[in-house]
Amino acid sequence: MKRVAILISGGGSNMLALLDSMEEAGHPATPCLVASNDPAAPGLERAAARGVATAAVDHRPFGRDRPAFEEELQKVIASHGADIVCLAGFMRVLTAGFVTQWSGRMLNIHPSLLPKYRGLHTHARALEAGEAEHGCTVHEVTPELDDGPILGQARVPVDPGDTPDSLAARVLVMEHRLYPAVLRRFAAGDRRPIWLS
Ligand code: GAR
Repeated sequence: MKRVAILISGGGSNMLALLDSMEEAGHPATPCLVASNDPAAPGLERAAARGVATAAVDHRPFGRDRPAFEEELQKVIASHGADIVCLAGFMRVLTAGFVTQWSGRMLNIHPSLLPKYRGLHTHARALEAGEAEHGCTVHEVTPELDDGPILGQARVPVDPGDTPDSLAARVLVMEHRLYPAVLRRFAAGDRRPIWLS
């Protein structure tokens, strides 16, 4: 049974979808920790209400010293015996040093069809570019931001009246399907990508 630490920064709807999925019969993984860089992240209470261990490592006292922040984070994750780390709306850029420690064992969900629209404001940028479709990607984390082997993508059509918010909401529904499907495969040692639409 693989032990999964989930890192969040906000509401944690993807984290909840992952927790729900790990309750399915025969699932090869179990949650060991939900951690956030923001002690006020609403997802922390939601995870605790599910009986999952939670931790906050506030990045602010560390200022620009990312490695020092990450060292604390690493200690917390390691102390819960994690085998896999899932970034789920975790909004801190991680250094190559941290990422390398988790090479092949850390996943991220990004709200675009990578390699398009790395970084922030993906929905607005897809709309501005006049894309006919948009979506989300789960990938292995490598030192390059929003890069790394793709483990799954889900596509949604862009509607004529879409705003960044309406598009984000439609993509989020697919995120909640895609991430659990990918984690289930990945935890079983299967890295073949999953394509949803
Ligand atoms: C999700 O849409 C996720 O894809 C995105 O943040 C949201 C978190 O929502 N992640 C990123 O933009 C990472 N660069 P959630 O807290 O409800 O899961």
